Amino acid sequence: MSVSIAPAATVSQEAESFLRLCAEGLGWDRERHERRRAAVLDELARTGTYRHTPAELVLGAKLAWRNHTRCIGKLYWKTLVVRDCRRLHHPDTIAAALTTHLVRAHNGGAIRPIITVFPPDTPAVPGPRIVSPQLVRYAGHEHPDGTRRGDPANTGLTRLARELGWRGEGGDFDRLPVLIRDSRGRLTRHDLPRDACPDVPITHPVHPWFAELGLRWYSCPTVSDMRLEIGGVTYPAAPFTGWYVGTEVGTRNFADRDRYDLLPEIARRLGLDTGDDRTLWKDRALTELNVAVLTSYERAGVRMLDHHTIAGHFHRYVQARRRAGEEVHADWSWIIPPTAASTTPVFHDSYDPAVVSPNFYR
Ligand code: ARG
Repeated sequence: MSVSIAPAATVSQEAESFLRLCAEGLGWDRERHERRRAAVLDELARTGTYRHTPAELVLGAKLAWRNHTRCIGKLYWKTLVVRDCRRLHHPDTIAAALTTHLVRAHNGGAIRPIITVFPPDTPAVPGPRIVSPQLVRYAGHEHPDGTRRGDPANTGLTRLARELGWRGEGGDFDRLPVLIRDSRGRLTRHDLPRDACPDVPITHPVHPWFAELGLRWYSCPTVSDMRLEIGGVTYPAAPFTGWYVGTEVGTRNFADRDRYDLLPEIARRLGLDTGDDRTLWKDRALTELNVAVLTSYERAGVRMLDHHTIAGHFHRYVQARRRAGEEVHADWSWIIPPTAASTTPVFHDSYDPAVVSPNFYR
């Protein structure tokens, strides 16, 4: 049996195709394009890598968002704020830049899409990495008596933080430090100030008992464990923030069996019969949970979209791009909301899932 694999593009091929995107996106004329291309190929031949100009970095990061197939919010790609922190290598200065990132992303509740780009990998040294999957994560505690508290998604990260001397408070919403691995491979932990990305307490507009559950979630997610690839250059630490879609918190984080698994408790409090699936107790509890999340963020003045609104925006964006003769690359299974999927237009569409460069990878 023979398997043929397309040869991976070389760094110079990746660079050349990215520079073509720059020529188009940054309005370079032929001469400018040719000059930049020659300079990049020369730098590559001498050093094995090349440095993006600030304008190239901004465009590359925006295009990576536009190209990402698993994001329903990417129609806002042009508004991305790009922070260039490529000079920062020390974990303490990186942690300080992460705090500033959170403050600027949170923006008093008017969440802004923003990315901070730290040093790239080079043939000489790897860039620093953020080991934590997001800048804010709640610990997953496994107590000696077998009881579990917090977010089970983060038990591994919690163990690692403990090995680094972190203790924590032991509750359900106990913030973990951010773990950074520097270019020399040293792992350190950093507590970012809580008010840089405050928690939103979860209440329900009709059921006062909801507040007794003591639920909370952080204002906005900052994914920090994906590498950004632009024109053959890898940026292993490039955390990015966007606002939440309500279902990410209400349907997945709070209700997944292997996360906070809250549906049985909420259904009981709603007085539903949890003994029979046909009562649709899960569906009804899920709806109330999502209502609670959306109204709580609204009350706290923190930007969050509901799944119907964002799906509508995305659908109109896709249609407009198609009219312009371009396909939007998207992974249908990640685009459809996890709740009420078929009531949104994206469920009834299909997309080209091709992953093109620049992009974000795990
Ligand atoms: N789904 C992840 C979470 O709930 C966040 C992923 C990024 N989401 C976003 N809206 N930018 O924590």
